[in-house]
Amino acid sequence: MTIRVLKTTFIASALAMALAGTVAAEDTKPKDAAASVKKVGEVEVLHWWTAGGEAKALGVLKEMLEGQGVSWKDMPVAGGGGEKAMTVLRSRVQAGNPPTAVQMLGFDIRDWAKEGATANLDDLATKEGWEKVVPEALQAFSRYEGHWVASPVNVHSTNWVWANKKVMDDLGVTEAPKDFDALISILDKAKEKGITPLAIGGQPWQEATLFEAVALSTGGPEFYKKAFIDLDKDALTSDNMKKTFDRMKKLRSYADANFSGRDWNLAAGMVIEGKAALQVMGDWAKGEFLNAKKVPDTDFLCYRFPGTQGNVTFNADQFVMFKVKDDQTEAQNLMAKDVMDPKFQIAFNLVKGSVPARTDVSDAEFDACGKKGMKDLAEASKGGTLLGSMAHGYAAPAAVKNAIYDVVTKHFNSDVSADDAVKQLAAAVEGAKE
Ligand code: GAL
Repeated sequence: MTIRVLKTTFIASALAMALAGTVAAEDTKPKDAAASVKKVGEVEVLHWWTAGGEAKALGVLKEMLEGQGVSWKDMPVAGGGGEKAMTVLRSRVQAGNPPTAVQMLGFDIRDWAKEGATANLDDLATKEGWEKVVPEALQAFSRYEGHWVASPVNVHSTNWVWANKKVMDDLGVTEAPKDFDALISILDKAKEKGITPLAIGGQPWQEATLFEAVALSTGGPEFYKKAFIDLDKDALTSDNMKKTFDRMKKLRSYADANFSGRDWNLAAGMVIEGKAALQVMGDWAKGEFLNAKKVPDTDFLCYRFPGTQGNVTFNADQFVMFKVKDDQTEAQNLMAKDVMDPKFQIAFNLVKGSVPARTDVSDAEFDACGKKGMKDLAEASKGGTLLGSMAHGYAAPAAVKNAIYDVVTKHFNSDVSADDAVKQLAAAVEGAKE
């Protein structure tokens, strides 16, 4: 593990130095690498990567840019899914002072592009051939009305389970559960042994992340698509949706007493320390395991949420470039270019837990979970089972997503019945649709 982290840092430093070297060569007597780099400008970056693994991954980009003479102004706003970050962004744009680049997901990108707040990256994209290497499912959001507005930095997927290997061994669990009932039987075993079965972070976006995995497992990809992408009323009120809500209540019974409001990385920490058996979370959780020096297949296991094998619910973090003053565009363009650099995509995603946002990058350096992630993504993309994550803004516009969050959270944390929940869901979605 240590080797992997060192290797990653090495890749990032080597990359920065190699790129900086071309600039340094122009100076006659460079004192040292940092002092000899020509100052290009500053990028101010708004993001919500505040957990250990996330911050480390972002550090790869920061280091690379600093090596090229771009200074980094960090603007972190914690909160998965980026809801809080979007609120902060709104006030900055209204004040006429947007950040250079903003981490963003799916439909939010479209909203900002529609407002005319985003920069145009077409020249860079054409020069770098992005159209040929960025998966279509991502381009649908990186481009607005055909124009590039964002550099996608990764592809995450949300239908994963992260389990503590030692706990699984102690429970006598030797293989990944294939369906929901098999999952329940593992959770029961953990409960009997006095280990918290399920590490849950009780925040709306996390409950929605669990909910979309359960829905996909319960009704399959067609049902998922009808409900969360087409927003079809029959699917939203169907027996499959009722069963999904019932299963959510069942899963809640395996949480500890303190799950309410818990951050996702603290839930991951419970699994890392063996205090909980498993967590259902996107593969940014892997970044936390790696950051704690844990090794896949030795210390922890990754598998698809039972019943969703062959399907991938994706979200991709993209850096949306905003319209900035002329003296900031050189640094902005450099950042947009670096994010798409194949070597950077490897170095960054090794740390982040995600996989590259380009189809032409080798999986050689990735660990077992990363290799599986890349293979699953390619297969799902070919087979029509690559689905936008509802919980992370890739299935429906923000208003709909938030309406679903409200119903899911209310049901999960109260005694609302599944019958009532589906009615509330259909009504909330209907009210939020454009
Ligand atoms: C997601 C984001 C991931 C991860 C997670 C938790 O929305 O796409 O990169 O950071 O939030 O912060």
